Amino acid sequence: MRKKVTKAIFPVAGMGTRFLPATKSIPKEILSLVDRPLIQYAIDEAREAGITEFIFVTSRGKGALEDYFDAAPQLEQTLRKKNKHDLLEELKRSTMDSGEIVYVRQREALGLGHAVWCARRLIANEPFAVILPDDVIAAEKPCLKQMVEAYENTGGCMVAAMEVPPHKASAYGLLDVKEDMGSLLKINGMVEKPDAKDAPSNLAVIGRYILTPKVLNNLGKLKKGAGGEIQLTDAIAMEAKSGNDVYGLRFDGQRYDCGSKSGFLQATIAFALSRPELHDELMDFLAETVGSRRAAQ
Ligand code: G1P
Repeated sequence: MRKKVTKAIFPVAGMGTRFLPATKSIPKEILSLVDRPLIQYAIDEAREAGITEFIFVTSRGKGALEDYFDAAPQLEQTLRKKNKHDLLEELKRSTMDSGEIVYVRQREALGLGHAVWCARRLIANEPFAVILPDDVIAAEKPCLKQMVEAYENTGGCMVAAMEVPPHKASAYGLLDVKEDMGSLLKINGMVEKPDAKDAPSNLAVIGRYILTPKVLNNLGKLKKGAGGEIQLTDAIAMEAKSGNDVYGLRFDGQRYDCGSKSGFLQATIAFALSRPELHDELMDFLAETVGSRRAAQ
């Protein structure tokens, strides 16, 4: 029997410089799409995929994240008194039981691979997931759940994969595909942010991973890669090079790059439009605004 994936690592140590000054005093993972912080989307997705242990790799200045997941007795009491049961339910989703969530500090910003490696002692000898909260994926079946289901048949390592336009490919980890089996891809290797001329494909790694503990060993041996950082992509590529199975899954769903302002705004609009209570007013506003902008051009 394959071991179940019950642990997930959330690398949240980044400084979020692209969103300054908003992120000067709050972690970027607390920035909200409509009324729910980015990190809440990641946690909800992980829970729905069967994750029960949540490992946060943080850094200085991320205290607001710890508070976010804590119980809020005063707030709960007030809502109870006012009979605001729906808000109480919402609040419950953000509260983690003691022991369900752990925080590890990444002491130096040495890259995504290094951040994942910082959690090695908490993973021990089990497969684990990694979720990058910047990548928000709207899907009928949550992306990580799709991956866990596929992984139950394949084993090995698995990354979420998506075609990206060639002019954007160099911003991603790109897959070198050995066998294209439709939604599932078998991988020869992968390259982190190559120059356009060296891109093995325009199939990009999106921030969802299921990894074997061997990847953590590889990370311990790696030298700095693209951008002078320890790259998770390189540690997974090492698995493929040593003959172990690595897969990509073309997931069903719409991915938003909430690490960029434009992606964040697109996600905000899309998520707001999917709320019945906001839909009509926002549609009217968008139609009007787009109409008058077009007319002025
Ligand atoms: C990270 C990974 C990259 C991946 C991307 C997906 O890069 O290193 O392989 O394609 O996330 O969002 P980042 O965007 O953090 O630079």
